[in-house]
Amino acid sequence: MLYVGVDLGTSAVKLLLMDEKGEIKKIVSREYSLCFPNPGWSEQNPEDWFAQSIEGLKELTADCDRSKVAGISFGGQMHGLVALDESDHVIRPAILWNDGRTGEETEYLNRIIGKDKLSEYTANIAFAGFTAPKLLWLREHEPQNFARIKKIMLPKDYLAYRLSSVFCSDVSDASGMLLMDVKNRCWSKEMLEICGISEEQLPKLYESFEAVGVLKKEIAEELKLPETVKVIAGAGDNAAAAVGTGTVGDGMCNISLGTSGTIFISSKSFGVDENNALHSFAHADGSYHLMGCMLSAASCNKWWNEEILKTKDFAAEQAGIEKLGENQVFYLPYLMGERSPHNNPNARAMFIGMTMDTTREDMTQAVLEGVAFGLRDSLEIARSLGIQIERTKICGGGAKSPLWKKIIANVMNLKVDVIESEEGPALGGAMLAAVGCGEYPDVKTIAEKLVKVVDTVEPEEELAAKYEERYQEFKKLYPAVKGLWV
Ligand code: XUL
Repeated sequence: MLYVGVDLGTSAVKLLLMDEKGEIKKIVSREYSLCFPNPGWSEQNPEDWFAQSIEGLKELTADCDRSKVAGISFGGQMHGLVALDESDHVIRPAILWNDGRTGEETEYLNRIIGKDKLSEYTANIAFAGFTAPKLLWLREHEPQNFARIKKIMLPKDYLAYRLSSVFCSDVSDASGMLLMDVKNRCWSKEMLEICGISEEQLPKLYESFEAVGVLKKEIAEELKLPETVKVIAGAGDNAAAAVGTGTVGDGMCNISLGTSGTIFISSKSFGVDENNALHSFAHADGSYHLMGCMLSAASCNKWWNEEILKTKDFAAEQAGIEKLGENQVFYLPYLMGERSPHNNPNARAMFIGMTMDTTREDMTQAVLEGVAFGLRDSLEIARSLGIQIERTKICGGGAKSPLWKKIIANVMNLKVDVIESEEGPALGGAMLAAVGCGEYPDVKTIAEKLVKVVDTVEPEEELAAKYEERYQEFKKLYPAVKGLWV
């Protein structure tokens, strides 16, 4: 049988076709635009997601035996607010995970409602990108839109709804709304009251690997797929990526170098750290995870190359980099503000430390290193909680760069295991579809059977020591400059 995984990302939707043995048959990708209507705001049109996914699905299945397609599932960009009215029309553009407009609402939730209460209700505190502060923003700034809301959904759930007519979400993605009681995997009545919404406006919650329905008749006809194709709930892109890299079970780690950068630690049991510095979310395998998220990771490198250096040849820019561990230039990767660990939507990116002999290569290197240092910040929090991590998987577009993987391994002092395919969320989506269709009994089994490590990048003692010193310097920079952005 064949399974489709859809990674509904921020710059593009990626679709992957996999057979029951885990062989990837085809991958296609369709881009859509991202709109920044104000500094720090970030929006997309849900109709673009749907239109590009449909075109992508046609291309993906064009030369396979379509009668063999059994299931489709998703990994989706998290936290985005998609609001539909009573005729199922999208009320306004979706406000995305990296949108920083909700500084005041986040402050209100954390200070007035209080972090303790939020943590008790949801296992998390408020961050600007989360969905609940966006609802408060809408209520305050666009009351006429807020009053029209009939359905509140996350990006991938909009896709599932258009494909199947089922109003559903999954526990991993819904964890990032700050509306869910993560421990008990249900909506939090207290949070719904705080946000002025009712449970009828929210989707029914499923585990990520559960089937929610089948393709709508007209969609099946348009795609020339069987009407029996099952739609499986899917997961937030980080939980889906974790499935795709085999990061399931206890104490496993995955780093995703996508538009965002995340460090994801799977856990058998529920846990929250005292300061809620890491997100505590449900995992797609039925258990839980902790996660740190930086808002700009591979997007820093994309911005630097495409917008500033005006090149798309990222590899050529990295080819001349030689002075690993000795770069005098630092880069603070806060192009969209920062989530973990600073929780500051007003933070901004910066280069620091240039001299007259600074080269283009030094600046490019600083960008790659700045992202690695940002991820290390989250790793340090995990270490401070007593979590021992010696190795990590890696996925996302940035994971294509051998240099970046080497920098990550040495800055973090971790063994970096490279998987056959770096298509974490799309592969994870296809694997969830296979579980939801009964091809495999559970997520752990499919991950053990299908995910293969093909290489390991080991940290080198001398280089890791140099990077340790550089990281100690990097750590001083944010506290020194943060006063600029209040
Ligand atoms: C995770 C997060 C990002 C997005 C990217 O909390 O906000 O990783 O999911 O798509």
